[in-house]
Amino acid sequence: MRENELRLRTLRDRVEARLETILPAVSGLTEAMRYSLLAGGKRLRPILVLEFCRVCGGNPEAALDAACGLEMLHTYSLIHDDLPCMDNDDLRRGKPTNHKVFGEWQALLAGDALQAEAFRAVLSCSGLTDRARAASAALLAEAAGIAGICGGQYLDLTGEDRRLNEGEIREMYIRKTGALFRAACQIGCCAASAPEDKLSAAGSYGDALGLSFQLRDDLLDLDSTEQELGKPIGSDDRNGKSTLAACLGRKASEDLLLSSTREAEEILERHFGADPFLLWLTCSLAGRKS
Ligand code: IPE
Ligand code: IPE
Ligand code: MG
Ligand code: MG
Ligand code: MG
Repeated sequence: MRENELRLRTLRDRVEARLETILPAVSGLTEAMRYSLLAGGKRLRPILVLEFCRVCGGNPEAALDAACGLEMLHTYSLIHDDLPCMDNDDLRRGKPTNHKVFGEWQALLAGDALQAEAFRAVLSCSGLTDRARAASAALLAEAAGIAGICGGQYLDLTGEDRRLNEGEIREMYIRKTGALFRAACQIGCCAASAPEDKLSAAGSYGDALGLSFQLRDDLLDLDSTEQELGKPIGSDDRNGKSTLAACLGRKASEDLLLSSTREAEEILERHFGADPFLLWLTCSLAGRKS
């Protein structure tokens, strides 16, 4: 157990160190970008890139810049998610949200620029083959666009005005959260030039993990504390969001979290040699406190 925690910390430190230097120091806008990018966070998506690269026999260090690209894209999505026109939240990663510090127009631009720099990081990741770079950028585009974050956030905001049904909410979760997990795992496989069957299994793992991750996020929004979570609690209720916890009820949404986590673990067992660290990570995320 302790070994896994140490390993997680080492991976996080490796990502943090690269994020510190990855942005070109070109303009005042970099300050707003760095404010959110370097504010902490679990760094799960880049860690999944590195770990899927490793379990597919590749060299994770060679995929580090692509991994950081996923964190940049994720951070952009959080900055925009917090804006007054979206969830209107004041706290993120234990600090005032980007627009609270820099104002809305800078937060908007910081998010836009982080998204573009994310693609730059993937496309200039010199440790990858040309083929892996191109495939990774395509996977990231899929996760960011209509089938991914933007399409999911569209459904999420639609769900403030009208109760979405279970199928619609699942679709929203798959897009707004699952898609980036899917891309992270698949980009790790691409970096290792893994065969198609591994890519497909990694995608299914990302879907299952993404669903359980968002279910846990919704439960934390109900039960956690602002201090522990580093972001406001009760945000979903305040915004009248359609969530699975509200739609299915508490017990059924907890059961779904567990079954989705189990599905993710089974994929690791069947396709990725039951990797002990990834199994531990998957299980610990289901019960995470932040
Ligand atoms: C928050 O993601 C947004 C969701 C998809 C629920 P994380 O919980 O990974 O946020 P950080 O990166 O640790 O801040
Ligand atoms: C996930 O949903 C947001 C993104 C995909 C950016 P939430 O709106 O629930 O995320 P938090 O709770 O604000 O982190
Ligand atoms: Mg939101
Ligand atoms: Mg939000
Ligand atoms: Mg939430």
